Amino acid sequence: MKKLLLITGCALLAATAVHAADATVYTDSVEKILKASCISCHRSDKKKGKLDLSTYESLLKGGRSQAKGKPTVKAGNADESLMIKLICLPKDDEDHMPPSDSKAHQVTDKDLALLKWWITDGAKKDTKLADAKLPEDIKATAEALSKKQIAPPPPSKSGDTDAHANKSKHEEEEDDDDDE
Ligand code: HEC
Repeated sequence: MKKLLLITGCALLAATAVHAADATVYTDSVEKILKASCISCHRSDKKKGKLDLSTYESLLKGGRSQAKGKPTVKAGNADESLMIKLICLPKDDEDHMPPSDSKAHQVTDKDLALLKWWITDGAKKDTKLADAKLPEDIKATAEALSKKQIAPPPPSKSGDTDAHANKSKHEEEEDDDDDE
């Protein structure tokens, strides 16, 4: 019966792994650090300090202090970038990011070195991990991050479909954060 021959085609499912060659420093490492440590408070529907760190464009647009000459990211100058200054403040400083009393992941020294490198290199969006002239230790951090899956931020009041059940709880949390 010829019919039987048609069945075998289904076995050739393509693997869906991300091609390492296409990984970029921004999307596959910088953005992952921000997701783990910052996005819970800085995203489109919850912009603490009027800052949304969830996209490249909004990151460069900066927050409340951008217009006062304190850009969140100053391409080419990590020391002048507010984001780096706040991460580097002592943990007990009330302006330290992420706030030490929050559940957000603290930025590790390795991750900080990568963020600084990225800004110093011009805060580019499209530099491929494979082409970036990263020092060995930072390269190792970037590669490890590029393989990591970062869980999305907790559901927001207007976002995920099953967020409604917990609505009042989330609103309480937001009020806490607004006590600045
Ligand atoms: C638990 C909530 C929370 C997390 C997590 C958090 N932030 Fe913030 N962030 C705030 C709040 C609140 C403010 C506003 C402080 C103020 O207005 O005095 C702020 C302000 C800022 C500002 C100043 C914006 C401006 O232009 O004035 C920057 C930059 C910033 N955060 C960066 C970060 C970075 C980078 C991370 C992750 C490493 C992070 N934050 C994680 C709550 C958070």
